[in-house]
Amino acid sequence: MKAARNGQPFLSDVEELRERARASIQDGAITPNYQGDVAQTIEILQSVLATEIVCVLRYTMNAVAATGISSEGVKAEFDEHAKEEQEHARRVAERINQLGGKPNFNPEGLASRSASQYVEGGNLVEMIRENLIAERIACEHYRELIRYFGDKDPTTRVMMESILSKEEEHANDMHDLLVAHEGTPSLKQG
Ligand SMILES: [Fe+2]
Ligand SMILES: [Fe+2]
Repeated sequence: MKAARNGQPFLSDVEELRERARASIQDGAITPNYQGDVAQTIEILQSVLATEIVCVLRYTMNAVAATGISSEGVKAEFDEHAKEEQEHARRVAERINQLGGKPNFNPEGLASRSASQYVEGGNLVEMIRENLIAERIACEHYRELIRYFGDKDPTTRVMMESILSKEEEHANDMHDLLVAHEGTPSLKQG
């Protein structure tokens, strides 16, 4: 171990790091000091992927089906969210691949792998409410996962943090729409 500027030894010698990287090249991005359980992480991310795909489907369906007075702004919002959920799904799938897994896009069993449900909602207000519920479930679920990944897998954690901040925005958007279209929020905050 070499001494760093502050007198503390480096965590790992650079030479040793390079050697280990060369020796386990087939492991892709998973290097020996990865402290997460790779199989477990992949399984968790498969459920996040399913959650995101269900969100893409729900928002896309809602964007098409939204009708009635003042629905145009809501449609645009649903469309924007569908696009962002699609980006989340892609990022999660890329991370699964990076970890050596095969992202599961199989429509069979999709709903049961997903944390949030596919609920269509019969009218505009119901759609908004169902999306708000789904976003809140995603937020809670992702917060838990962020705590789980902690320092064991900082890359996955940072990705989930960035996705979570979007989901919080989505929840807030749906909450604002619900207030605008229904007058009062029907879900308590916090
Ligand atoms: Fe998302
Ligand atoms: Fe979302």
